[in-house]
Parts: sequence; C-alpha cells; structure tokens
Amino acid sequence: MTSSTQLAGGNGGPEHLLPLIDTALEGLGKGTVERNGPLPAGGPGSNGLRTGSTAVTGEGCPNTGVGATRALAEMSQWFTQYAIDPADPACAAHLHTPPLAVAVAADVVAGAVNSSLDSWDQGPSGVAVEADVVRALAHLIGYCPETATGAMTSGGTESNVTGLMLAREHATRAAAGKASRRGRPRILCSTDAHFSVARSAGVLGLGEDAAIEVGLDSRRRMDPESLHTALAAIDDAGDVPIAVVATAGTTDLGTIDPIPEIAGIAETHGLWLHVDAAYGGGAVFSHRLAPLLDGLERADSVAIDLHKLGWQPVAAGLFLVRDATLFDPLQRRVAYLNSEDDEQAGYRSLLGRSLRTTRRADALKVAVTLRALGRTGLGALVDRCHDLAGHAASRVNDEPRLTLHSDPVLTTVVFRYLPRAGDPDSVNARLRRRLLDEGRAVIGRTEFDGAVHLKLTLLNPNTTEGDIDALLETVVAAGDKECA
Ligand SMILES: Cc1ncc(COP(=O)(O)O)c(C=O)c1O
Repeated sequence: MTSSTQLAGGNGGPEHLLPLIDTALEGLGKGTVERNGPLPAGGPGSNGLRTGSTAVTGEGCPNTGVGATRALAEMSQWFTQYAIDPADPACAAHLHTPPLAVAVAADVVAGAVNSSLDSWDQGPSGVAVEADVVRALAHLIGYCPETATGAMTSGGTESNVTGLMLAREHATRAAAGKASRRGRPRILCSTDAHFSVARSAGVLGLGEDAAIEVGLDSRRRMDPESLHTALAAIDDAGDVPIAVVATAGTTDLGTIDPIPEIAGIAETHGLWLHVDAAYGGGAVFSHRLAPLLDGLERADSVAIDLHKLGWQPVAAGLFLVRDATLFDPLQRRVAYLNSEDDEQAGYRSLLGRSLRTTRRADALKVAVTLRALGRTGLGALVDRCHDLAGHAASRVNDEPRLTLHSDPVLTTVVFRYLPRAGDPDSVNARLRRRLLDEGRAVIGRTEFDGAVHLKLTLLNPNTTEGDIDALLETVVAAGDKECA
C-alpha cells in the first residue's frame, strides 16, 4: 500500500512511483480492453461517460480521500476507457498523434523531477536540454545554430502568438523616431492559415481583422501575386503591414505555401516572416519531404509542433527565431528569477524565451526521442505516414461512392462521400457522427469552398494498408446507411 503523500522525487522517489505506475498502467490496460476500439460508443450522452464520471470521480472535492492506489486504479481505467485512442488505426481525425512509448516514459521523468525553465536554479538540466533540442531543430531547418535560438511552447497557437508579438515589437522599434505612418498594423496570411493567426492579432490588441487574408493559387497555396496586391491595398489605405505568415502544412490539406517567393516579398518590404510549420515542420526529418520546406531558413520565426509529426505526447511545440537578438522584446530582469550578477556568472535562465514564466521541461522527451531514433528513425515514420496517405488517396479514387479533393501533400486525405440521395453536406456530416456514435471510427470533418468534406489525418505509422481499406469501407457503409 502506497501512501498518498509520498513524493515522486528525492532518494525514495522511484520506489514510491513504481507501484503507482504499475497501478496506473494496469488501469490503462484494462481501460483499453474495455473500450475495445478507437472511442467509446454512445457519444456525449453515453452512460459511462456521464454518470460513470461522477461515480469514479465523486461529486466535487471529497472530505476524505480514498487513497492513492484506489484513486489511481479507478480513474486511470475510467479515463482510458472513455478516451479517444490515437493509436487505433480507425482514429484518424486530427493532428492528434499517437505518442511514442519512449517519449511518454521520458515525460514521466520530467514530471517527477519537475524542473522549471524560468530560472537556472529550478532546472539546470532542463535549461541545458532545451538549448540542445532548439539547436538541433534550428540546424535541421537550416538556421545557423550559433545565432538562432528558440524555446519549447504549448504548441502552434502559442508559437504563432509569440512570433507575431515579436514581429509587432520589431516593427514598433523600427518605426520609433522615424516620421512613419500611423495607420493600423496589419498581418498577412493565406485564406487557409490557422485560425490562431487572426486570434493572435486579437490577443495582441490589433483586432482579429488586422489579419488580412491573401488569396490562394489553384493548389490552395498563398498566391504571391495576391500578396503583392494585398500589400498595395494596405499601402493605399495608409495602414502598416508588420508581418507575413506563411503556412507550411495547412491543417486540412497539408498545403505548403511557396516559402521562397513569400520570403523574397517579405524581405523587399522589410516585413517579419513567420512560418507556421506547426504541422509540416516535422517533414524536416524526412529526406524525401524536407525539400518541401526549402526557404524556411529565411523566416524570422518558425513554429514546429512535435506533438503532430514528431510523435510526442502533448505538449511539444517549438518556437524558433533566426537570431537570438529577435527575442529582445521578451527579455525581463526579475529580481527573484534572473538577477544580473547570476546571469553574468553563467547561471542563465530561459525566462526571456517565453510568454510563460513557469515552464516544464518538455524538451526532455524530445531529446530522448531524437537520441533514440535519430533523424533517420523519425524520417521513416514521416515517410510511412506519407505513404499511407498516398494509399488512402488511391483507394478513395477506386471507390465510386467517394471522391478525392486533391492528392495528399503530407499525411492528410480530404474527400467526400457521394450520396445516392439527399443533401451531400448533411449526409457527410451525419455519417461522420454516426461513426462516432457507434464507436467505430474517428474521422475528420471540415468545410471549405462552401462544402463539407471528410478527412483522414494519418499519423499512426503502425497502421497498415489493410486498416486504411477497412476504415474507408466503414465510411462508405455509414454513408450508405445514412442514405437508406
Ligand atoms: C497549421 C497549424 N497551426 C497551428 C496549430 C495550432 O497548434 P496547437 O493546437 O498545438 O496550438 C495547428 C493545429 O492543428 C495547425 O494545424
């Protein structure tokens, strides 16, 4: 019996943790067996999810606890049973990766040691390992590792807001003292950019409508001509462009904007270039796909999520900047965290690398993964998922009841079910919900060009071609039932 108040760290830490981890893993195993599929059947109204939750967790904060072992056993099983399992081949909706066991194990250590990166004296090894991971990724994307820097983030959303905050500060500082125009700051991104770009503009006080949507070319990439036109329109209105955001891997189609052309335009206009490579950034591991990211090294800042194409448990975002000095606007001298004399003596903190203060050592799991698999190992996983997307696309093309939107770029496949009768949008939306309700599959649903589309986001390298065929057959069967 393990006491509920034993600590995870210190000399006795591992002995305290071991039986609890055994209990937690037992719950994980039982929950997976009970679920027996990618998700629990019954949707949000399912009894186990609604009432089961209260039965297991109790109502509110109990006066007396049940003890560590029982709480962990019951709740681990319930949580797993009523979760969605990205490791199931029929779970293919979102950029929601099945994490590598080695990364999850490393994350247990990060949790037990509980370093924080905002001051050296809360995590010297955490500070060092984050610097290593940043250097490795900076090198891979073609930045000069001596001048580039960065930090782990909670994901693309935080990386995008951080990049745009630095862009705004950079533009403000560049304009200081100059007789520059006083119009509204503007950020340019493609129509298919992630919604967090416009939300970042809002968070920064610029208003969400400060994000100007630039038109797309025939492959739904940002059209450089349209970027020129948008910049001219901003100029005519007396407003001030401060940044261009290119996307390397749009959420639905995985489209990669033409980064070299966009970088050229940003350079000509003296604009900050942020590349949202939250999804596509992991392609740097693949020798086959890395050329798609050419030009990334010309960006001022880059977002890469290794909890997407990187097989890390959430959160494993990376925010990189071309030159460490670009972080200057985030630097703060805080007496209790990073006094000047400590820093001069070499006790460096990473406070000035993030909008957050307390920050866990998410880099440990990434460093362990890089060391365990190397670029080749991770690249093979990327290639495998890319191959699976190619297979799924050709199966969709072979199936008369399905129609493919376009050839996959990365690992997503967007298509529609063609109903014999009824409104196609409504049938596609309902068939997906039917699959959720029956606990059969988790596939994506999205909308563009005024139509509902279905999407497979393939991030499970252990999925087989047979699994994909079975999943598509399940989709067709669900569509047929909706039309019956
Ligand atoms: C292109 C892109 N950027 C940013 C994000 C946001 O990432 P996160 O959810 O990790 O904050 C996503 C999420 O899917 C994305 O696809």
